[in-house]
Amino acid sequence: MISKVFIVGAGQMGLDIGQVMAKAGKKVTFRDMTDEILAKSMAKLNKGLDKQVAKGKMDEDTKAAILANISTTTELAPAADADLVLEAIVENVEIKKTLFKELDGICKPECIFATNTSSISITQIAAATNRADKFIGMHFFNPATVMKLVEVIRGLHTSDETFKTVYDLSAEIGKDPIEVKEGPGFVVNRILIPMINEAIMVLEEGLASAEDIDKAMKLGCNHPMGPLALADLIGLDTCLHIMDVFYAETCDSKYRAARLLRQMVRGGKLGRKTGVGFFDYT
Ligand code: CAA
Ligand code: NAD
Repeated sequence: MISKVFIVGAGQMGLDIGQVMAKAGKKVTFRDMTDEILAKSMAKLNKGLDKQVAKGKMDEDTKAAILANISTTTELAPAADADLVLEAIVENVEIKKTLFKELDGICKPECIFATNTSSISITQIAAATNRADKFIGMHFFNPATVMKLVEVIRGLHTSDETFKTVYDLSAEIGKDPIEVKEGPGFVVNRILIPMINEAIMVLEEGLASAEDIDKAMKLGCNHPMGPLALADLIGLDTCLHIMDVFYAETCDSKYRAARLLRQMVRGGKLGRKTGVGFFDYT
């Protein structure tokens, strides 16, 4: 039974995942680097809930119940009594490994460790801990309050019991899980991110404007949003990290990141999170 969930990283994914968990009755603690970041994240969460109430999609009691289930911390120590730790920090293998190594010494032995990584090997991150059997990928989609899918990904040593607990939990919180074997990007990102990368190459080659590339994929393929707007939503830094993992894992040049993508990340144009990406959000 999972009742206490410790979420590391209250950014765009962690915050939404925590909201979904809290709505399903789980006790959620968010951990982020500073009180300022946590205050900003909680203000964003509150604003989102207020919007739902204003639209008549949520009542005040539900909002209050969600908020009552949430606490925040800048420490790792409160993870000690968690049943599940869910990590949603930057897509960098060394930073994730350092975090889980520290958590391994803090959390109770039966606590399950889950990563929301978009592309990194579950086995590789799990190797930083002494509980590889309790380590799993629990991959949500952005925006996690809305998107139904969770990819539940086994590492080499993930036990059947851990898999079943996380698969069942995904269904319990209202998501629709699939079982995925480990491979760079799993299922969705293996298909989606190279498509986004190709759209950036089309832009780079000057074949069409950003607006028209997105219009093409919306009207020509019925995608809900164009690939460049989606890159801005995901975060260009995350898209680049994912392409670089694909390339490093396969040495296949078809996964070469678009030069324009790398340049924009180097220049701090990360999409919605910085206000500017392929489109302007300021
Ligand atoms: N955060 C939270 N909620 C959001 C949101 C956001 N950024 N954007 C929209 N929503 C909510 C709205 O509040 C609304 O909720 P209600 O129905 O309860 O009112 C609902 O989503 C629909 O929103 P809108 O009517 O404003 O807009 P829409 O119908 O165009 O839908 C969308 C917005 C759901 C984002 C839709 O455009 C969409 O599905 N886009 C594609 C998203 C996608 O592909 N995500 C996967 C990215 S890849 C990934 O996540 C994996 C990875 O590892 C990188
Ligand atoms: P983000 O930049 O919005 O949030 C990351 C948060 O983690 C930030 O608030 C940062 O301050 C915090 N953080 C960094 N190091 C930390 C640490 N050691 N302890 C606590 N907090 C720390 O990133 P995001 O878009 O939410 O992505 C998070 C993870 O989820 C990544 O692995 C990403 O690949 C994955 N993911 C992203 C998306 C997406 O569409 N953005 C979708 C699915 C999965």
